[in-house]
Amino acid sequence: MKVLALVTQKGGTGKSSLAVSLAVAAEESGLKTCILDVDPQGTAAEWRARRTAERPEVEAINWSFLSSRLYTLKRERCDLIIIDTPGANNAAAEAAMRDATLCIIPVRPSVADIEAAKPTIRYLSDRDKPFAFVLNQCPVGGRTARTSNAYRALQLLSAVSDATLANRADHMDALAAGLGVTEHAPSGKAAAETRALLSWLLAQLERPQRGRRNEAPAREARG
Ligand SMILES: Nc1ncnc2c1ncn2[C@@H]1O[C@H](COP(=O)(O)OP(=O)(O)OP(=O)(O)O)[C@@H](O)[C@H]1O
Ligand SMILES: [Mg+2]
Repeated sequence: MKVLALVTQKGGTGKSSLAVSLAVAAEESGLKTCILDVDPQGTAAEWRARRTAERPEVEAINWSFLSSRLYTLKRERCDLIIIDTPGANNAAAEAAMRDATLCIIPVRPSVADIEAAKPTIRYLSDRDKPFAFVLNQCPVGGRTARTSNAYRALQLLSAVSDATLANRADHMDALAAGLGVTEHAPSGKAAAETRALLSWLLAQLERPQRGRRNEAPAREARG
């Protein structure tokens, strides 16, 4: 069982939107997936209340029960757990970061988002926890200069998904309808980008997880 946690104290970067759409896409790809919502705001839990489909399972839980719930979900043979956390560097976010196989930090391509993620990055780096960035809500129309600049800045800090998500109404409409983007508009661009992101994340999860300190040196730096 793999555990992804969506974290960053910056609000509105897309943690909950990615949590629900990635979970739906993961279920569609055959993975038994569960969302654990430790954000008292309850965006993922409320999204679940608007759904008719049974899967993915969504549970709103207090962060203090997170470790024990993960233990039982493992015994229930869940393949993938996605934890949605509050936009705050608090006990709930820290519990998720401690228990995750991999933390995902969604950032919009703006200096404000990158700077606001610093406490989250510091927490993860200090504990040598593996984490990766996902650029979300990027300007449409391919890799703009703003997206490329943000990509390069983030690469200095950790892995960055090469699957980026553009700013697309499908994400807002899907959330409102209690759907993942791949259910809401299966042949749309937002759906394709979300599937590409899921593939990238699953590939990361298959690799041995290492924090920055224990990463193998980059190829250019070897010998
Ligand atoms: N790629 C996207 N394109 C368009 N809108 C998006 C995208 N990603 C997220 N949004 C919208 O941005 C808003 C904030 O997203 P979301 O609630 O997922 O952020 P969050 O990080 O979970 O916020 P919080 O920190 O408050 O929990 C929502 O209205 C959502 O529909
Ligand atoms: Mg949220």
